[in-house]
Amino acid sequence: MKKISGLLFAAVVSLAANGAIAQEYVIKFSHVVAPGTPKGKAADLFAKMVNERMKGRVKVEVFPNSQLYNDNKVMEAMRLSDSKTTGIMAAPSLSKFVKFSRTIQAFDIPYLFNDIDDVHKLVDSPIMDKMTKPLERKGLKAISLWDNGMKVFSIRGDKPLKKVPDDFKGRKFRIQSSEVHAAMIKALGGIPQKLPFKEVYQALSQGVVDGQENAWSNVYSKKFYEVQDYITVSNHSYLGYMVVVSAEFWNNLPDDIRKELTAIMAEATAANRRFAAEADSGDRARIEAAGKAKVVELTPEELAQWRKAVAGVEGQFSKQIGTALLADIHKLLG
Ligand code: LMR
Repeated sequence: MKKISGLLFAAVVSLAANGAIAQEYVIKFSHVVAPGTPKGKAADLFAKMVNERMKGRVKVEVFPNSQLYNDNKVMEAMRLSDSKTTGIMAAPSLSKFVKFSRTIQAFDIPYLFNDIDDVHKLVDSPIMDKMTKPLERKGLKAISLWDNGMKVFSIRGDKPLKKVPDDFKGRKFRIQSSEVHAAMIKALGGIPQKLPFKEVYQALSQGVVDGQENAWSNVYSKKFYEVQDYITVSNHSYLGYMVVVSAEFWNNLPDDIRKELTAIMAEATAANRRFAAEADSGDRARIEAAGKAKVVELTPEELAQWRKAVAGVEGQFSKQIGTALLADIHKLLG
């Protein structure tokens, strides 16, 4: 009886909030990128599938472009939320989870992954569970991992980033809130500056920073290429996302609803990998066709210099990440 009246109450509350169609549960999916990116498209697809297949029971609303929260704020909101009927969901980049799990920093180690296939080896392995499980104690439930792609560097000025450390010297680079990124920029010879994603375009256009590192889809969709002179295809590390939801909300969902959402999320994740692969070549081509920033490749010798310059970064963080975990990752990647 108590359960029935609770459900009834939830239904009435969401009826009031959502107009004519009663939803027992509402998920607010907040993210910071443009809707046309691999993350934006996957979030929209997840919402579409849930809203069609679970009509009347669950409704997903997507808020792109930092409209609702930036990434640090959304994780706090998620942790503080105790609503059993409205859940906050987000997909912040893996680099932004360090406050909640130091092991996740492994993803930021430069040149740990040779390519996206290496990333998938790790993401699809049992090691991933070990890395995400501890988040639950912090109020965050990890339900999937989504790709964006390998990152490239962009810079303004008359000199592309090719030689390290000379081409980085005296130049400021926007980074996400990651100490590994800060150590990497210093190792390359540059000056790191942490900024939220939504401030990057302005910081680049006003010269607050000289450059930044990101995946092609962000450089394209946020028009960074219009205010940068060169893009170096460095593929130095991975930009990917952990899809998280308030643990309290998730764990309180009825089993059948949680199961169906999990299955739909698996479909959205498969689609995300396709969207990311398309953006990787497509957005690069669109940037090249625009003729604004010039795309430059590293010679094998230059690449060897970059790798050498950042080789010590892993050692600086191996204790925090866990030496045994890192050894397992290296073994897995071969
Ligand atoms: C960034 O801050 O550069 C990225 O995390 C943005 C994103 O979510 O892709």
